[in-house]
Amino acid sequence: MLNWDDPFSTATTKPTSKPAPATEPQTLAESYAQSSVLRGMSFDDTGVALPEATEVTETSKTDAVADESAAYQTAEVDSLAPVKASDKRVINGEADINQLAPFKYPWAWEYFLNANKNHWTPLDINMAQDVQDYQHNLSDTEKHVYENVLGYLTTSDILAMRNIGLAVMEKMTAPELQIYQARQVYEEALHTWTYQHCIETIGLDQGEIYNRYRVVPAIHGKIKLTNRRLDSVLRSDMDLRKPDNLHEFVMAYIFFAAIFEGCWFYNGFTPIFSLQRRGLMKGTAEQLQYIMRDEVLHASFGIRVVKQIMLENNIRLDPKAIRAMWDETEAAEKAYAHYILKDPILGYTAEDHIEQFRFIANRRARQLGFEEPYPGAQNRTPWLDEQANLRKEKNFFETRVTEYQTGGALDWG
Ligand SMILES: [Fe+2]
Ligand SMILES: [Fe+2]
Repeated sequence: MLNWDDPFSTATTKPTSKPAPATEPQTLAESYAQSSVLRGMSFDDTGVALPEATEVTETSKTDAVADESAAYQTAEVDSLAPVKASDKRVINGEADINQLAPFKYPWAWEYFLNANKNHWTPLDINMAQDVQDYQHNLSDTEKHVYENVLGYLTTSDILAMRNIGLAVMEKMTAPELQIYQARQVYEEALHTWTYQHCIETIGLDQGEIYNRYRVVPAIHGKIKLTNRRLDSVLRSDMDLRKPDNLHEFVMAYIFFAAIFEGCWFYNGFTPIFSLQRRGLMKGTAEQLQYIMRDEVLHASFGIRVVKQIMLENNIRLDPKAIRAMWDETEAAEKAYAHYILKDPILGYTAEDHIEQFRFIANRRARQLGFEEPYPGAQNRTPWLDEQANLRKEKNFFETRVTEYQTGGALDWG
């Protein structure tokens, strides 16, 4: 049982038959005291560092607190009026970032509220049949698909979390945008937990799966391309008041929202959904359905933010640069499709995967206000949108009892 008053307390763990050696730390404070890094510092029982002791008398302590308190009461404050919505900007704004309302971007707040309608943890979903399926019902080709899709997704979601949390969120200057992105950071972490839960439950070799993106060229290619596209926004010398830097940021954000999240994630779940449609790996597929809903919101939010930045800063993008972005992402996706589906599985081929990428890419381009990169691309998996929009029904035998009272009314596509 977790002790919520002191969650890291060793006192709540089961007593062992052998008493711990006298030198072993029993509390966080003792453990910290034995650390070479923290040696010399003092900690309270919960592990919080105590200030360095100084020689002060009780009277001088009281006087000091009174002086400090008086200073707070008379501190100069800005006599400014509340923030006006019109003062806010997506980036390079100067309005007080700590005032949520009035909203300039009420849609961002709506995204936050809607995101909270898709809430689950991977432990809620029954994975027992997936273990059976993996061991007895999947062909080697299907196992290859399953493992490599997970291998790609695990790396991608950590990358997504770091990008939105470390590179994008800090550049926003309206709190309503940052609040949704804070939720997004949490969701990306939850997705990573979900893949980890699947990998662990199925009994796959964790080290090997997590390392796949470094040794499988087709997975490595997508991650390498992503790092190249996004590394610029992680640079510490990025200054969005400089037009070149701002242009670079917009291109990176378009790649991240419209392609990495909007195409590659959306399309990335499809091979597992095709197994689900044949009654296989249904627990994993249900986990991915929840993730997909999040990703649909991430992509459309990012597209909306980037369009707003372009509007506020009068940015025009070079159509050739956009075309080059589509072309290189299509090439990487083709290599990936031919690797994971080198032998087709029943009802799903590499060609289906590539054509579906093109179809979704057209949708994202339209959302951005760009021309379609692949006119006439066919929707090879018309059931894919249903996966995101399907209102979950009670199913007493396979999964938890799940219903969305409000989420079902949203368009998750
Ligand atoms: Fe994610
Ligand atoms: Fe995401």
